[in-house]
Amino acid sequence: MSELAKVLEDMRTAPSMRRKLYFVSPLLTAILFGLYERLGLSRPKSAVLRTLSGRGPGPTPADFARQSARRIRALGLDRLEVLSGPFKGMRYGDFSYNSALIPKLLGTYETDLQGWVDEALAAGYDAMINIGCAEGYYAVGFAYAHPTIEVVAFDTSSVATDMLSKLAALNGLQNRVRLAPARTPAELESLLQRYKRPLLFVDVEGAEDDLLDIRRAPSLALADMIVETHDGYNFGVTRRLIERFWPTHRFEITGGREAEDYPLPAIVRERIADPAAARELLSESRGLPELWLRFRARHSTGASRSSGPKEHEKTRHKSRTRARVAPSAAPSPRRAGRGSPTSW
Ligand SMILES: C[S@@+](CC[C@H](N)C(=O)[O-])C[C@H]1O[C@@H](n2cnc3c(N)ncnc32)[C@H](O)[C@@H]1O
Repeated sequence: MSELAKVLEDMRTAPSMRRKLYFVSPLLTAILFGLYERLGLSRPKSAVLRTLSGRGPGPTPADFARQSARRIRALGLDRLEVLSGPFKGMRYGDFSYNSALIPKLLGTYETDLQGWVDEALAAGYDAMINIGCAEGYYAVGFAYAHPTIEVVAFDTSSVATDMLSKLAALNGLQNRVRLAPARTPAELESLLQRYKRPLLFVDVEGAEDDLLDIRRAPSLALADMIVETHDGYNFGVTRRLIERFWPTHRFEITGGREAEDYPLPAIVRERIADPAAARELLSESRGLPELWLRFRARHSTGASRSSGPKEHEKTRHKSRTRARVAPSAAPSPRRAGRGSPTSW
């Protein structure tokens, strides 16, 4: 099938307008849907849907906890641990903060990102600085999956950081996962300066725009970063970050696919016979369009910086990303085909 025919087929079968558009351009989709949120159009729509379906206001954290408990029973999990993916084997609690628990237990969580996580684990970073760590899926996960990397984590929510401490302790990793403040670019700068070759991993619901201020945190120019962007909360942030880091970093984009876009994993098929029920378990309940950007510094501090393509070739899952030499002109959005993040 030609590439165009495949895109058209993907668009035909995608279940929502947002995901149809993602096959044309993830960046354009993020911008359009960010605008939709900014104009406040989603609120009246969800109020109408709630009224029509007879449901009251949206689900509470307690509703999510009950739903997770039901799903854990349905899956027949007697021991809570991550069942697949980069953090396979990590012990888990029956809690998660601001994100879906079950996909984390299944190891399907943010599948689009797993290639980059595998590459990061193999790339020789001396530290992983995780801002917006929630209960620590990535912070504790990196310490779990890597024998020596130092992990520094921060979250503005103390509920989240309490959960992170619990998760680290469950895995005996409390000595390798440290909490430190990174509320401002100045605090972030002092963290970055401590390491030769840190990876900065950021998911902060739109605050990435203010936090990743390269004038007030100049060490960002030398750091590699994986950043989830939130145009729905902070319209235009994806574009602004790309432009901001264009002089100092090469970048790639991934994201936009959800559980429905992947074949059902065997760990789910084996446990749940009904495919619709199985897909529901994989859902990450994402309302807004979210993308991830990976920025790789064009220059770096570390002599140890040897993680060019050769190092990446050694990773467990082959990267779906093709790094390209950056063109000299400013970037323009391109279509990211299914299964291949766009890169510049
Ligand atoms: C969607 S959650 C992150 C989920 C996490 N990436 C995971 O996969 O488990 C976003 C987190 O960012 C935190 N947050 C929001 N603004 C922040 C900021 N300015 N600095 C640090 N954390 C922030 C929230 O408290 C929340 O825990």
